[in-house]
Amino acid sequence: MKGLVLSGGKGTRLRPLTFTGAKQLVPIANKPVLFYVLEDLVEAGITDIGIIVGDTHEQVRAAVGDGATFGARVTYIQQDAPLGLAHAVRIARDFLQDDPFVMFLGDNLIRDGIVSYVRDFEAGGMNSLIVLKEVPNPREFGIAVLEQGRVTRLMEKPKDPPTNLAVIGIYIFDSTVFEAVESITPSARGELEITDALQYLIDHGFRVEARHLTSYWTDTGKMDDMLEANRWVLEQLETAVHGAVDAQSALHGRVQVEPGAVVINSTVRGPAIIGRNTVIENCYIGPFTSISHDCVVRNSEVEHCIIMDSCAIDAGGQRIESSLIGRNVQIQPIDHKPRAYKLVLGDHSRIGLL
Ligand code: DAU
Repeated sequence: MKGLVLSGGKGTRLRPLTFTGAKQLVPIANKPVLFYVLEDLVEAGITDIGIIVGDTHEQVRAAVGDGATFGARVTYIQQDAPLGLAHAVRIARDFLQDDPFVMFLGDNLIRDGIVSYVRDFEAGGMNSLIVLKEVPNPREFGIAVLEQGRVTRLMEKPKDPPTNLAVIGIYIFDSTVFEAVESITPSARGELEITDALQYLIDHGFRVEARHLTSYWTDTGKMDDMLEANRWVLEQLETAVHGAVDAQSALHGRVQVEPGAVVINSTVRGPAIIGRNTVIENCYIGPFTSISHDCVVRNSEVEHCIIMDSCAIDAGGQRIESSLIGRNVQIQPIDHKPRAYKLVLGDHSRIGLL
């Protein structure tokens, strides 16, 4: 079985971070979402993996390389425009050949991996397996209708959802899916929808089975979902101190201090992770915080945040909470008149003032 990971697309809901970066590379507990996806595939024995890339292909290639660090062999498949999930399957035909494959959306994070779904599919006679989860906001997902346990209808982000069963970002197909993706036409939003391809399979008598996911899953497409995913992954964190923590500092609960990190005169209350070569000085770092690599954070209280690489933050003793801060961001106190907020914000930035 092969893997097809979708890491193209636009990521409009995560602006401004996605103006400059791939949304699949936003770190959760200091590791890109995409890496969890690759690890799940390899855990299921799938090592021949195609990654669909778009405008952000250079970053994805730089982060993943040839896949050897994951125990995989990665082939990159360039998609010129995000024309839909089924379009991604279309253009992956040469890579996939006639092998069955797992399609995994590169921004989806699940707790229990995919091993059981892969084994079920391998055991038997189905053309496709999809995974469903009850959600409170069904308008935001592909939705499935079941009759006597069988999938009968699928629709993409319906205005008036008939069920709250979301199709999550893990799909297994055999080669009959190519007939489906070649036959469907673009939806009203101009995309070739994978839900339409699945509907085609159902309508033409192919066997599409569904499994229900009971454990944690999130589509990390929005800021709140990112923070929630970060919270959830940090819940599983094990204590490990590989950096330097001075005698004036205290680590409480499960805290990881990565190699080269330095904690000076600070309290870190876990679960929290401090990235490689990051300096934390005169700070309180609270639970559910991931501070990535090569940052300097001074004189700040930080809680329930994701701070990405190479940031320089000095909040002048103030508190930063529930925030997602991109790479190379600088936050410094103003020590000259006029005393005022001085902001350089990209399009779609959001700040909360006191
Ligand atoms: O998360 C589950 C949902 O994912 C499903 O319930 C929906 O049926 C499915 O359409 C999808 O909805 P999203 O709106 O979340 O899809 P998004 O545009 O965010 O794309 C999902 C991933 O696929 C993301 O990593 C970007 C990538 N992608 C997307 C498109 C449209 C591509 O690589 N190429 C594309 O053309």
